[in-house]
Amino acid sequence: MTATVIDGKAFAARVRADLAAHVVRLREVHGLVPGLAVVLVGEDPASQVYVRNKGSQTTEAGMASFEHKLPVDTPEADLLALIHNLNADPAVHGILVQLPLPGHIDTDLVINAIDPAKDVDGFHILNVGLLGTGQKAMVPCTPLGCLMMLRDHLGSLSGLNAVVVGRSNIVGKPMAQLLLGDSCTVTIAHSRTRDLAGVCARADILVAAVGRPEMITADMVKPGATVIDVGINRVERDGRARLVGDVDFASVAAVAGAITPVPGGVGPMTIACLLANTLTACCRANGLPEPDGLTA
Ligand code: GUN
Repeated sequence: MTATVIDGKAFAARVRADLAAHVVRLREVHGLVPGLAVVLVGEDPASQVYVRNKGSQTTEAGMASFEHKLPVDTPEADLLALIHNLNADPAVHGILVQLPLPGHIDTDLVINAIDPAKDVDGFHILNVGLLGTGQKAMVPCTPLGCLMMLRDHLGSLSGLNAVVVGRSNIVGKPMAQLLLGDSCTVTIAHSRTRDLAGVCARADILVAAVGRPEMITADMVKPGATVIDVGINRVERDGRARLVGDVDFASVAAVAGAITPVPGGVGPMTIACLLANTLTACCRANGLPEPDGLTA
């Protein structure tokens, strides 16, 4: 293996420690406690794990955590009423509605009911528009975490060729906007892209966010490239359940300059950025300067 392994777990721990220090100062100097409300509808096991992790890391950072667990058959109107209450609650600076929502609920309607200033996921249409036009926005957590790791590892990204594989609203599209904001030359590739291997092989920065286990192989990677693996795929290998990314780590690590592992790469940064967005939202709501390095 030649690639440097980017340790997202250690980086996320540093970000959380930095956040916790800011939270102490906010409390001592301004009497403020940043608060994050997480709403979970139904009992999807993976979502329950995420919500539990978010809650514990929120309190560990010294912030207030408000969890709202609703039954799977909750009427859309009840969920909207809860969001209106959270919008009006001054102790709540960030609101996250865990996705996916049950099929009878209109996800776009719910997300766009969140006060954009409290939209710590960055999914509200206003924040999508602000990000797309290079204005101050709440930025989606996973792409923000990827950007922080790229800046930390590479310094300036200006002029680099970046290829994002995947065009989701949660990762692919905002990731491309952030890379463009840092003056990369950006290509978004997807399942219909012709000569995907050739397109990827031109990338100085390759971000894989497709949700297909180990589909990025060494022949698709430029020697020395920085590879960010957003995928979290559960597979069975040798009769055992394992987590793998969208990148074939073993072969790509022999070619790339740097690579994020799965687990322990992008994943821990996502929750750290959720906490960072909550702190940012709290500072903005109270007219206080935002801590450096936590936003795009
Ligand atoms: N479900 C999977 N990823 C996410 C995320 O980033 N935010 C929310 N709200 N739900 C998710």
